[in-house]
Amino acid sequence: MDRRTFLNAGIGAVALGSAGYARQTQEDSRIEVILDEPGAIIAPEIYGHFVEHLGGVVYDGIWVGENSTIANIGGLRKSLIDALKRVKPGMIRWPGGCFADQYDWRDGVGPRDKRPRRTNFWVDDGAWPANANRKGPQSYDPNAFGTAEFVHFCEQTGAQPYFAANLRSLPAEELYRWLEYCNSPAGTTTWSDVRSADGHPEPINVKYWGVGNESWGCGGEFDPEDYASELRRYSAWMPKYGVDLRVIGSGPNDNEYSWTRRCFSKLARDGHVHGIWGWAAHHYAWNTTGKSKAEWNSGKGDALHFDAEQYYSILRSADETEAIIEGHWEVMAEHDPQHHVKLVVDEWGAWYAAGTEPFAEALLGQQNTMRDAVVAGLTLDIFNRHAEKVGMASVAQLVNCLQSLFLAHEDKFCLTPTYHVFDMYVAHQGGQSIRTMVSAPHVSYSWNGVPASLRGLSSSASLKGKTLTLTVTNPLIDTVRETEIVLRGGKIQAVSGQMLSASDVHAHNSFESPNAVEPKRLLNARSRFTLPAASVTQLEIALG
Ligand code: AHR
Repeated sequence: MDRRTFLNAGIGAVALGSAGYARQTQEDSRIEVILDEPGAIIAPEIYGHFVEHLGGVVYDGIWVGENSTIANIGGLRKSLIDALKRVKPGMIRWPGGCFADQYDWRDGVGPRDKRPRRTNFWVDDGAWPANANRKGPQSYDPNAFGTAEFVHFCEQTGAQPYFAANLRSLPAEELYRWLEYCNSPAGTTTWSDVRSADGHPEPINVKYWGVGNESWGCGGEFDPEDYASELRRYSAWMPKYGVDLRVIGSGPNDNEYSWTRRCFSKLARDGHVHGIWGWAAHHYAWNTTGKSKAEWNSGKGDALHFDAEQYYSILRSADETEAIIEGHWEVMAEHDPQHHVKLVVDEWGAWYAAGTEPFAEALLGQQNTMRDAVVAGLTLDIFNRHAEKVGMASVAQLVNCLQSLFLAHEDKFCLTPTYHVFDMYVAHQGGQSIRTMVSAPHVSYSWNGVPASLRGLSSSASLKGKTLTLTVTNPLIDTVRETEIVLRGGKIQAVSGQMLSASDVHAHNSFESPNAVEPKRLLNARSRFTLPAASVTQLEIALG
């Protein structure tokens, strides 16, 4: 279809809301979808989640207990299971995070009433709200939620389990024993008998095993060469039980390319580069320029109250994910030119200052606005565009912590704008990534007096048979964008979709007002769109 036919095709009248800022309209953007340049399949595991024993994630968030008056399935919060199932979680990573390198898996198996209580890794964190009960399960873990309960949660939601094994404070033998508990055939080992008594007679066949977490920091403060040696020692002779084990090494923070380079050089010297399947990178978005721990904590912005500069600085930080993926991929190629090892972005999301926790024990809990929906749209688009590089990813964290999909406390529950973005992106899972070319002027703004810029529009596309899914994020805080969509190598037959936007970019859902931000369906949409400021759109295009 040429440009004239497109323009004649009319306007899909879908302008919704404003962002609480002066409105302008810009008519200078265009998205070309290059159908004859297909890329890799988008792994469902890119749409993964992260569950750590941190604040209100596990206790109250997921685990309410079998005797609770809150609707539950074997102690797991039912409303959360129902909603999570809908967004088809490809994978769930557990039990941490920093918690993982202090966790003894044996504490969380066997009869629940006999399990030990242990001090949680996060007990001394500086971000606890002053009125939090510091003696509850968030500080002293009763271990009611252990391996069998987590696996039950994965089964209920259809996710693959991804375990983060303790490297800092347990020997390699414990990793083998945990594997034995999970994967050894029924009736063959003492641990398989314990598993059976825990409700899983058949092997769980856990495939994804991380060795340590942030091993450059809370995971042991290793230097890269020492970590690479440990990674090899822990993973070289793991018992397989017929499972295609996928070992994930603890990769870099942000753009710390030297961690990747030095670890891969050491793994290459030891002939173990292909002993791993994935390389975990973490990247959080925050709007502090400070690098020291103190500046980092004091400089973080508020989740609910922000101006345009703070808005853009978070988006810009999230958008750096693309350069980080490309940068580490290039470095990994120095010792893995065929790219057998995939990137696993197993912690991503926006991280704000304390103060908007859904309840006092939800350490690192924060509210989630339309800004976070835009962060999610930008980030998931990046993963889709780099489907050949990103094997898995998980947003931090599932519930009540950082950029959550859910807020849950006692009998109160709500979905966040980030949840709705995951819901809108479901159709990308398992699709073939298709190249898009976006033409839109960059956004210019200043951050702490320094000029900065951000892409003016983001998109990604995937194809399943004759159905094209196109997602588009307009990051402009105050500007509605008129956009034309042009297909190269195909014709549009029909377009439908959904759009997430709000009259104010600070809009969010809460226990009192759970439906303040919700997507709206686009009916009889066309190829020319009005994208509201700070919005995320999903289009399903039937090809002729
Ligand atoms: O997600 C919170 C923490 O952030 C994780 O425990 C850790 O891995 C990261 O630093």
